[in-house]
Amino acid sequence: MQRILAIYPGSFDPVTNGHLDVIERGAKIFGRLVVAVLCNSEKQPLFTLNERLEMLREATRRYANVEVDSFDGLLVDYARRLGAQVLLRGIRAVSDYEYELQMAMMNRRLEPTLETVFMLPAEAYSYLSSRLVREIAQLGGSVSGLVPPEVEQRLRTKVTT
Ligand code: PNS
Repeated sequence: MQRILAIYPGSFDPVTNGHLDVIERGAKIFGRLVVAVLCNSEKQPLFTLNERLEMLREATRRYANVEVDSFDGLLVDYARRLGAQVLLRGIRAVSDYEYELQMAMMNRRLEPTLETVFMLPAEAYSYLSSRLVREIAQLGGSVSGLVPPEVEQRLRTKVTT
């Protein structure tokens, strides 16, 4: 697996400890792992693209084979440009499976040589999502232990300004 380049795509609005758990697992298996943030999603993000990239770079600094990048357009086109062989996605619960299966199958149809690999984050993060983290922070709750300290700080600043 050491010659394999994998892409871990997502919105990362913001990166959570669940994402980082998958990144750590992926970094152990694949030779190179590119965490790729989608630029123009239909969703209106809380954090700008640059903020999301900065938080991810800070949180993944300790992994020598992990890079952070952004992409626009089709994921399969970006994967082709990079020469990646694998798309990495995390599955938390059965409820994630349907959406993930649909995306994986569609990506396979668009680029049959690209494999989607699913990884399970630690059980402790099985109920964690960026959406819930944003909601809790916006309503004044604590997200300690759910996101890296730097993200916690940025969330605090974001919701009080
Ligand atoms: O973390 P998310 O928001 O669930 O990530 C979704 C993401 C970014 C992986 C997905 O929306 C995506 O790949 N978008 C790029 C556009 C694309 O390729 N769409 C077709 C997917 S089958």
